[in-house]
Amino acid sequence: MEDEAHQSQVDRGTALARIAQLRETIDAHNYRYHVLDDPKITDAEYDQLLRQLQQLEAAFPDLVTPDSPTQRVGGAPLPHFEKVAHPIPMLSLSNAFNEQELREFDQRIKRATGVERISYMCELKIDGLAISLRYENGRFAQGSTRGDGSVGEDITQNLKTIRAIPLRLRRPVDLEVRGEAYLPKKEFMRINREREETGEALFANPRNAAAGSLRQLDPKITAKRALSVFMYGIADSAELDVRQQSAMLDDLSELGLKVNNERQLVHSIDDVLDYIDRWQAHRAELDYEIDGIVIKVDDFSLQEALGTTAKSPRWAIAYKFPAEEAVTLLKAIEVTVGRTGVVTPTAVLEPVTLAGTTVQRASLHNEDLIREKDIRLGDHVLVRKAGDIIPEVVQSLAERRAGEEREYRMPTHCPECGSELVRLEDEVALRCINPNCPAQTREGIIHFVSRDAMNIDGLGEKVVTQLFRAGLVRGPADLYDLQRDELLKLERMGEKSVDNLLTAIERSKQNSVEKLIFGLGIRLVGAKAAELLAQAFGDLDTLRQADEEQLLAIEGMGPKMADSVVTYFAKPEVAATLERLQAAGVNFAYKGLRQEQVATDSPFSGKTVVLTGTLHEMSRKEAGEKITTLGGKVTGSVSKNTDLLIAGEKAGSKLTKAEQLGIEVWDEARFLEALANVAE
Ligand code: IVH
Repeated sequence: MEDEAHQSQVDRGTALARIAQLRETIDAHNYRYHVLDDPKITDAEYDQLLRQLQQLEAAFPDLVTPDSPTQRVGGAPLPHFEKVAHPIPMLSLSNAFNEQELREFDQRIKRATGVERISYMCELKIDGLAISLRYENGRFAQGSTRGDGSVGEDITQNLKTIRAIPLRLRRPVDLEVRGEAYLPKKEFMRINREREETGEALFANPRNAAAGSLRQLDPKITAKRALSVFMYGIADSAELDVRQQSAMLDDLSELGLKVNNERQLVHSIDDVLDYIDRWQAHRAELDYEIDGIVIKVDDFSLQEALGTTAKSPRWAIAYKFPAEEAVTLLKAIEVTVGRTGVVTPTAVLEPVTLAGTTVQRASLHNEDLIREKDIRLGDHVLVRKAGDIIPEVVQSLAERRAGEEREYRMPTHCPECGSELVRLEDEVALRCINPNCPAQTREGIIHFVSRDAMNIDGLGEKVVTQLFRAGLVRGPADLYDLQRDELLKLERMGEKSVDNLLTAIERSKQNSVEKLIFGLGIRLVGAKAAELLAQAFGDLDTLRQADEEQLLAIEGMGPKMADSVVTYFAKPEVAATLERLQAAGVNFAYKGLRQEQVATDSPFSGKTVVLTGTLHEMSRKEAGEKITTLGGKVTGSVSKNTDLLIAGEKAGSKLTKAEQLGIEVWDEARFLEALANVAE
């Protein structure tokens, strides 16, 4: 009895230490990935650490704390958002639109302060949603929106899902930090692609998408949108021991908060203008949207002397980039059929220059939008680069109509295969539901060979279309039957390109199966979901037989996706394709780390292992990799946190120390035996 009590005491103590250590490691990797953008471990390794922590916390629920990395998505959906008062208001900025207005700002500052040489902090103006984060004793306590500046909404649960927001700062300070939450451009495009597939209305730009994601009552939805933040200020300058904006940003960064690195301290208004010119030219290269530049007087004493008006500080100004819009003629509307059968209208425009590129086509998204905006053929239309990404038609200019313009009707039949188009319930999109529609098949093959899918080099949109037209491929399986002599007959296909293509096709057979799963183009199954499925089932044959219940048991899998997977694999034509792919030698197995293997069923899972001495059957590096694969963590030195020492020949001081600490020691034979048991 006594022994047992002692045992659980020890276990608890060990768990506590291990939990603290895991949290620290996870926080550090999180910081590297989401703040420094310089990860040191793979996503799979990160997930594994998080799983180890989840397991330990599940065994000792009272050791869970709100700042644990496992608590980023925990909460249930809220009925509504609570109001949060901002005792120190969240101000906005006054704007400048040209050089003259900026020079006037500089003059005003110099006049009011009597200082000749002013240092300005130049920052990018991130186009997202203003947020305020309150830390108490270094712990994230509450996060809110700006609202009207004095009262915002409590969105703590949602903000916790953003991994760039630390749940713990590196010093135990009380601090209210302000910044901008945003959605990276890539993520914006991914979400809109997904919404297009599910027939949901598209977000107009990354800012709307960020706002929509943060105003979700269910934090699980927010967690699926890879939002990020840049923090740019503090509510009360007395809370940090700094006296300049530049030093404050450095300090925020040191505290572990994410601060934009493109900031620059300059010492004249001419240098401010240079900074603006530079970013106006290069903004498209950023992976987030900016809508201008913010210029702030660097010195806090000068800021205090200048003060604020009711709405905005006198010591800062936002230079707004000119809108990237232009007026042009809408010549025609073409419809294209996508991989999932969604029919999208595209505007064909009189070419016009926009943000440095010539625009001749712009998406009109769907018929409802054309109606809502009353866009007619022959209209003059305002086009904009939505978030610098895809050009879109903003509105028609009705006042410029001459009377010849005609209303547009979407076709009732598929332009490619002629079958009747349908509008599925709750969807805004029209779809061609003919499974044999050539347009869908062609788009499906383009998707199958794309980088995140089977990654077949040399097979771009052009070549696929060429193969398709020549009747050489009608589905993905045909790619593996392509013959050298057939390919050589095609236009612009020389010996070398044919050989390269065949080699790339051959190589793709070895891909780990998640690439194939993604490539099949199952509705709602993106690259990440494909990886989850592969990890959970291990191979395609097992996945094919899974029922909804098994699918729903996977974390991150919702009912819609589970239904889509089951429906997909029930189709006879899918079975036929899979059989042909398998016969061609395409790999159906997952080559990465299996979830369950990592999780529990190994003698190393959750253990901290040290290797020492000479091993004969493998190098220490290989042994370490095996242990990591099996859910263990390998460290270099023996301490009270070590669970197991594997001692090869001529083991020295580490062995002595382990023996002193009473840590379990295995020799190589015992280690090999354990590995062999796992392999079975
Ligand atoms: S400073 C009191 N700096 O722009 C000064 N604002 O009206 C408060 N914004 O929605 C703003 N990037 O969230 C500042 N580097 C930056 C910014 C920035 C974006 C947003 C801010 C607010 C609007 C200003």
